[in-house]
Amino acid sequence: MEKVLISTRDLSKIYHMGEVSVEALRDATLDIYEGEFVVILGPSGSGKSTLLNIIGGMDTPTHGKVFFRGQELGDLDDNGLTRYRRENIGFIFQFYNLLPNLTARENVELVTDMSSDPLDVMEVLDKVGLKERADHFPSQLSGGEQQRVAVARAVAKNPEVLLCDEPTGALDNITGRVVLKVLKEINRSLGKTVLVITHNAAIAEMANRVLYLSNGRIASIRTIENPIDPERIEW
Ligand SMILES: Nc1ncnc2c1ncn2[C@@H]1O[C@H](COP(=O)(O)OP(=O)(O)OP(=O)(O)O)[C@@H](O)[C@H]1O
Ligand SMILES: [Mg+2]
Repeated sequence: MEKVLISTRDLSKIYHMGEVSVEALRDATLDIYEGEFVVILGPSGSGKSTLLNIIGGMDTPTHGKVFFRGQELGDLDDNGLTRYRRENIGFIFQFYNLLPNLTARENVELVTDMSSDPLDVMEVLDKVGLKERADHFPSQLSGGEQQRVAVARAVAKNPEVLLCDEPTGALDNITGRVVLKVLKEINRSLGKTVLVITHNAAIAEMANRVLYLSNGRIASIRTIENPIDPERIEW
């Protein structure tokens, strides 16, 4: 039996900017299962990042609820929410956000030092194919390698979920594919639940399910019967 890990119920988010209000998310109801690889597609401004940020406890909905293992995030105080983010969620962004004056290893250690149940830093760097580059600084690494350090950093604190907002957005196709392969491998071998936002519809074919957002709404959810290997993505 598949277990629900995250549920959203009728999520909406309205941003007020002076006279104008923007409905970034409308009535988004969704269940995410343990160990799933979910790809989120949709045009620019359709609410993808808003949804991910609310799931990750970085933003709060205007209406509606998010549950993680049955715990409603809205019931947590600031400390509870911080703990939720720290223990359960690994974020990966388009622009790596590595500290330039720390090596790859130190960038990852920064996070494991704060974690209650971290993985071994060198083992995780090995998993993303960067064991030999552990002592290199970000400026000595390619974009794809830097993004793999960012993946290692998110994974090393051993969260249940990886939330990736356009992780290949700044990478060329070949490099992007390597990053996706790493994400898929972490999903498969460590059983982490992975949500990936992308503009690239071809990436969807490697997912278990694909969510389409349109104008703040979940327009459709598609199950992929036979997800393809990231190597076979045609960009
Ligand atoms: N902090 C904010 N203040 C005001 N409006 C916002 C804010 N964040 C997002 N929005 C608006 O909400 C809508 C959804 O934004 P969101 O960032 O979720 O879209 P997206 O699907 O991630 O787009 P993109 O593909 O360009 O990253 C957009 O119209 C955006 O301008
Ligand atoms: Mg976005």
